[in-house]
Amino acid sequence: EKGLRKMKTKLFHSENLEEASHYLKAGELVAFPTETVYGLGAIASDDAAVKKVYQVKGRPSDNPLIVHVASDDIASYVAEVSPMAKKLMRAYWPGPLTLIFNVKPDIFAPSVTGNQTTVALRMPDQPMTLQLIKEAGFPLVGPSANTSGKPSPTKPEHVLHDLEGKIVGVVDGGETNIGVESTVLDLTDSRGPIILRPGAITREQIQIVIDQKVWMNHEVSQKNQEGAPKAPGMKYIHYSPEQPVVLIKSDWQGKIKELLQKNKRIGILASDEKIAELTEKSELSVYSLGSIKEPMLASKKLYAGLRYFDGQDVDIILAEVYPKEGIGIAVMNRLEKAATTIYPE
Ligand code: TXA
Ligand code: MG
Repeated sequence: EKGLRKMKTKLFHSENLEEASHYLKAGELVAFPTETVYGLGAIASDDAAVKKVYQVKGRPSDNPLIVHVASDDIASYVAEVSPMAKKLMRAYWPGPLTLIFNVKPDIFAPSVTGNQTTVALRMPDQPMTLQLIKEAGFPLVGPSANTSGKPSPTKPEHVLHDLEGKIVGVVDGGETNIGVESTVLDLTDSRGPIILRPGAITREQIQIVIDQKVWMNHEVSQKNQEGAPKAPGMKYIHYSPEQPVVLIKSDWQGKIKELLQKNKRIGILASDEKIAELTEKSELSVYSLGSIKEPMLASKKLYAGLRYFDGQDVDIILAEVYPKEGIGIAVMNRLEKAATTIYPE
């Protein structure tokens, strides 16, 4: 954080987008809403501003950033727009699908892509943010607007909690809808399209549009042809609240009893149905992810839930295992990264 001056962080609304864009053009950082989570914006050709993004997040510089565009007219940014990419953009942009292309040289600031020859592009489904990008006159980088390692922000107050005084402002779009970050799909691998990070757009939804097999990251070797890691962000700590998180596969009562005997204060992150089953509720701090029948709600509330316990007097968080289908795949991907252990082992 050295060299960063403290500033008063403003809230921008739809009538202040032009003002927000002036700050961006002056090299300042403005966080913006998307349909997934809040992003930390800087103009993607401004190397000094992009370096500041890494600095205020505390993000390792070898973890490249997503560039947010306001239309699917991306020919000037990437080496080639394949028929497959065109189909996917037509079907899912604007929306929670990030596509990885070979980048055209000297368009984006070097710090955007790290040392990679590829760039991640996405068109967010958020009218204010599309307007902000247009006013800024160039695409914006937008890593999730949290301190590196913490749960991503789904409300403006989460952004302020992590970055107040470090950035000029936040465009207030209220609570985000989807709640987990976009699906990241690599289109540059000779083995075919690979999902590097699961999100709201599922493998099945991608396959149906391109009529071709899509791989999940864990199904193929983690190395590309050059031997470099394919998903640079994956090796870092993610989504971690202050307390350890334990994923409970079964025997909730056994684990709760064991912890209460050790005088541990317990947080519960689970569905309405699971919470209703638990006894000794007066001794538990509970955050509901909604009905188990509505996994979209779990996705929307997941990060707010993990952040909720930061303000609670608990020693440990017990979290429910959701079925790995549809958006549940993305929810479990984040919970498994947040978790320190699984019970029973
Ligand atoms: O929903 C989202 O994608 C949100 C909103 C704000 O748009 N953004 C977001 O950004 O989640 P971030 O920086 O927190 O996550 C970007 C992910 C990281 O895992 C990063 O490693 C990967 O995308 N990524 C970015 N550029 C890449 C590239 N050229 N090749 C491979 N992975 C890349
Ligand atoms: Mg992130």
